[in-house]
Amino acid sequence: MSPVKVVICGAAGGIGQPLSLLLKQSDLIAHLALLGVVTASGIAADLSHINTKCKVTGHGKDQIDEALQGAHTVVIPAGVPRKPGMTRDDLFKLNAGIVRDLAEGIAKNCPKAFVLVISNPVNSTVPIVCQVLKSHGVFNPSKVFGISTLDVVRASSFVSEVNPAIDPSTRVTVVGGHSGVTIVPLLSQLPNNFVDSLSRDQLDALTHRIQYGGDEVVKAKKGAGSATLSMAYAGARFTLGLLQATVAGKTGVVESAYVHLDADKENTAAFKAKTGLDYFALDVEFGREGVSRILKLPKVSRYEQALLDAAIPELKTNIAKGAAFITDSV
Ligand code: NAI
Repeated sequence: MSPVKVVICGAAGGIGQPLSLLLKQSDLIAHLALLGVVTASGIAADLSHINTKCKVTGHGKDQIDEALQGAHTVVIPAGVPRKPGMTRDDLFKLNAGIVRDLAEGIAKNCPKAFVLVISNPVNSTVPIVCQVLKSHGVFNPSKVFGISTLDVVRASSFVSEVNPAIDPSTRVTVVGGHSGVTIVPLLSQLPNNFVDSLSRDQLDALTHRIQYGGDEVVKAKKGAGSATLSMAYAGARFTLGLLQATVAGKTGVVESAYVHLDADKENTAAFKAKTGLDYFALDVEFGREGVSRILKLPKVSRYEQALLDAAIPELKTNIAKGAAFITDSV
């Protein structure tokens, strides 16, 4: 196992800084390259004093090529976060171009890298990355991920708050996308008939809280941004899980991810034919090459089917918007 180079694009930001701190502690990473707009050299100098083996370097936008060259994994939390009253889709105008330019840099400098997208709206920014990589003939659906882990992290916390007998580390399956109604928690999957212990009002409230949990943070921060620390935790969990599989060869690592369904045609063909969706968040098992298997959508309750029915048209619009941003500009 040789440790690898990981690049954080947007490393000076609210997510980028704590995410870099968490990744600096991994022995799977030999070099953490921090890309900022002007530079991230201050953050890099600070982190480089931590006595772990991982080397840290800082780079500005005009040094994007040197930052990305040789990257095994590129994590993208670059862009603008939400303010109160904004939806994630409202960020499209601001973040689409940023993500496109970073994807262009990846296609040019590290076309085989794993690309982990945090920048919102994830439902649209992942299609943007995929379209750019496609336009350069370097797209591999097994290597591009939208990080929806925060929805799972929140769901686990909120379920445990409702029923303290459920440990907060209990995994909740959350599928769909990463915004509002497209976030579909499958609470019927939880053990011991958890879902049957809830009244309809409690189920509605818990589902709504998981779908709109991000708004709680946006509101509490009073205009100073959205989730950063919990997102850094979720982003680190996802990145390190992927590195465990791709670098250390660990098997059985599963995380929820918003992916292009062609990453596992065998397991997703029927779902794709039924829904017409190319992208969807599902549990994904990692392997040496990224996606090793996309776990099929489990049997859902009637309540969850109604949530899926609401999510699918919204997701289609979000995906088309992201894809059109690239196809209309070439
Ligand atoms: P922030 O504004 O604190 O940090 C973003 C950083 O990106 C800034 O330092 C900015 O200068 C930098 N940046 C902008 N363009 C860049 C470029 N071309 N190259 C390198 N750096 C660039 O924002 P924060 O709070 O860190 O959020 C970042 C993104 O993550 C937002 O789009 C936010 O909506 C999203 N987010 C996603 C979540 C998810 O679950 N996937 C959860 C929370 C936030």
